[in-house]
Amino acid sequence: MAKVALITGITGQDGSYLSELLLQKGYVVHGIIRRSSVFTTERVEHLYQDRHDSDVRFRLHYGDLLDAMCLRRILSEVKPDEVYNLAAQSHVRTSFDQPIYTAEVVGIGTLNLLEAIRDYRDSTGCEVRFYQAASSEMFGKAAEVPQRETTPFYPRSPYACAKVHAFWQTVNYREAYGLFACNGILFNHESPRRGETFVTRKITRAATRIKLGLQDKLYLGNLDARRDWGFAGDYVLAMWLMLQQEKPDDYVVATGQSHSVREFLAEAFRCLGLDGEGRVEFDPRYLRPTEVDVLQGDATKAERQLGWRPKVTMQELCRMMVDADMRLAQRERTLVDAGHDATPRDNEAARNHVSSAPAAPKEAPASRTGKRGSASGARSK
Ligand code: NAP
Ligand code: GDD
Repeated sequence: MAKVALITGITGQDGSYLSELLLQKGYVVHGIIRRSSVFTTERVEHLYQDRHDSDVRFRLHYGDLLDAMCLRRILSEVKPDEVYNLAAQSHVRTSFDQPIYTAEVVGIGTLNLLEAIRDYRDSTGCEVRFYQAASSEMFGKAAEVPQRETTPFYPRSPYACAKVHAFWQTVNYREAYGLFACNGILFNHESPRRGETFVTRKITRAATRIKLGLQDKLYLGNLDARRDWGFAGDYVLAMWLMLQQEKPDDYVVATGQSHSVREFLAEAFRCLGLDGEGRVEFDPRYLRPTEVDVLQGDATKAERQLGWRPKVTMQELCRMMVDADMRLAQRERTLVDAGHDATPRDNEAARNHVSSAPAAPKEAPASRTGKRGSASGARSK
């Protein structure tokens, strides 16, 4: 019988790649989506199946991590073998503006799900394996470089504090109730489907638009921060591998290489043969009250125990994102030249970068980061 997976955060970057991976492996995939006044399913649209079709292996359910009752109902209906908790208010800068909401979704939301799984298991006798999307942000003001599973946490944002809470709740459910529960401590991972307010995508989107004359400048914050950037498509495999082991455990997932924002920026401009001089300006709005200066992971344990290794370097990742965003910018340019609104409505470009998987999804309408005078603080973090 096909295995059944339930994914929270299925409409996000990782949710879309994980869905593709699990479908390729023959799973039936269920996802939880939030009701919204606009469509939020662009990243998984290509996976949608009409419920009237036979052999439907991809289904979406309305729900929310903050709605504990609906989580219970969905679990009873779906009867999952594996649950991947990817849902989060995942933007670090935003978490300083919305600390309580972030703590509720990331911290209490995870607890709601763990409780629901425990009760479901105890009442039905059905075992459920649980993956928690933990984060390298938890290392924060890191005690050592590189960071590994034994590095102490020193969170530097409301988001990271909430992820630490969720991390320990996951460990505690494993130890107290014998739940098969794992934390994947994932370092930054990006893709052409990355949200446009995260720095890599903000850069590749802006650089390609600048190249085609659609935008003049790019406004950024701290260029000296260093991150360990990998490809999201590689990282979802590590999530799955964690749940296939004999015993549950926690793992760092990273490339082991760290680069500054400045280096990523230079790489993006280099890919386009662009001179960045006069194009990039500092905007203090993008600084955080407390910054995480250096993240660099040591994924030795994941390699040894899971057999997992990253395949894509930062330079290859940047090229992949620039190429996808260039296709988007070209569409915008064509529209502008024809006298139409330049605002892109979808992201055909992202469709073409996945080789083995089904076509990639549309990207959410872009925030016009760096477009003079139009970038609102809320949309351009
Ligand atoms: P993302 O693109 O921001 O996606 C977040 C997802 O969570 C979206 O599907 C969003 O739904 C959903 N969501 C938000 N609040 C929710 C709620 N209250 N109830 C149910 N769903 C909710 O994030 P990502 O980059 O894919 O990351 C996936 C997970 O890994 C997150 O937990 C993130 O914190 C963690 N993580 C990410 C990275 C990284 O570098 N990407 C690194 C370490 C850890 P909508 O579409 O409706 O907004
Ligand atoms: N977003 C953003 N916008 N970041 C900027 C900017 C800007 O204009 N300018 C400089 N930065 C710097 C930030 O200060 C940070 O040091 C770095 O770029 C990366 O920022 P983000 O891309 O927003 O990612 P993050 O590292 O804060 O958080 C991401 O990775 C975490 C894992 O370490 C998110 O995906 C989190 O959900 C994830 O847990």
